[in-house]
Amino acid sequence: MEILTAPADYAPRADLLTGKTIVVTGAGDGIGRAAALSYAQHGATIILLGRTGHKLEAVYDEIEAAGGPRPGFIELDLATAAEENYQTLSDNLATEFPYLDGLLHNAGILGDRRPIESAGYASWQQVMQVNVNAQFLLTRYLLPQLQGAPAASIVFTSSGVGRTGRAYWGAYAASKFATEGFMQVLASELENTSKVRVNSLNPGATNTSMRRTAYPAETPTDNPAPQDIMPAYLFLMGDDSAGITGMAFDAQ
Ligand SMILES: NC(=O)c1ccc[n+]([C@@H]2O[C@H](COP(=O)([O-])OP(=O)(O)OC[C@H]3O[C@@H](n4cnc5c(N)ncnc54)[C@H](OP(=O)(O)O)[C@@H]3O)[C@@H](O)[C@H]2O)c1
Repeated sequence: MEILTAPADYAPRADLLTGKTIVVTGAGDGIGRAAALSYAQHGATIILLGRTGHKLEAVYDEIEAAGGPRPGFIELDLATAAEENYQTLSDNLATEFPYLDGLLHNAGILGDRRPIESAGYASWQQVMQVNVNAQFLLTRYLLPQLQGAPAASIVFTSSGVGRTGRAYWGAYAASKFATEGFMQVLASELENTSKVRVNSLNPGATNTSMRRTAYPAETPTDNPAPQDIMPAYLFLMGDDSAGITGMAFDAQ
């Protein structure tokens, strides 16, 4: 698999995302929170999607306080949501936002880090539900609105272990390989028939709660903060990446 990066000196315009409406999953914390704030700072109306209401409210307030466009807000637990919840979500969104310019699939969970021989099926299923099945359902039900936009971008979040497997990364690694596969299939299906581009992005080691859980012995501040890796997130979401689809990117 060929891995690309955003142009090294990429400097997004201040109004890069003005007029665009973008859904960000897992927008309450970590990289998703940074992406929501950064996209809003560059002019986008953000639909904040996540499972913890008070975290989403804090991001909502931060965007409003900074003078950004008033965000939308969807509280949804991707581990337990049923298919009809996604249909309802899509119908409700469509009344206010008839089309969408972007979808950042960012929400994810780590699951258990242990050998396959002792891995639990319930934990395996939960990782697949949040990291893979929920992405399928959200994409499936938001695709009409994305296809209605003049040009839209879907960004999937990958990982180093979604490109090369590594011991003890179990369901998480498998879920990220599935994410890459789903990205490629969707990109191929949409390549000649719509203006929706589809790519994957590996943030790389980033100082978030997930990273601190996965690597408790690390000094957290040795890794970049989520806001430091935003140039790649902006590049893939804005029109500067127009025409690029089906590709795997690294943010660092
Ligand atoms: N940080 C890294 O070094 C790194 C490296 C490679 C890939 N990644 C990927 O980057 C993405 C973001 O990770 P992060 O490091 O920012 O992790 P994080 O700080 O743990 O944030 C994960 C986000 O996903 C949300 N989420 C988890 N389960 C959910 C559910 N059932 N329903 C709805 N939302 C849910 C969380 O919501 P709550 O806050 O409400 O729990 C949180 O907003 C993930 O896809 C991860 O796999 C991260």
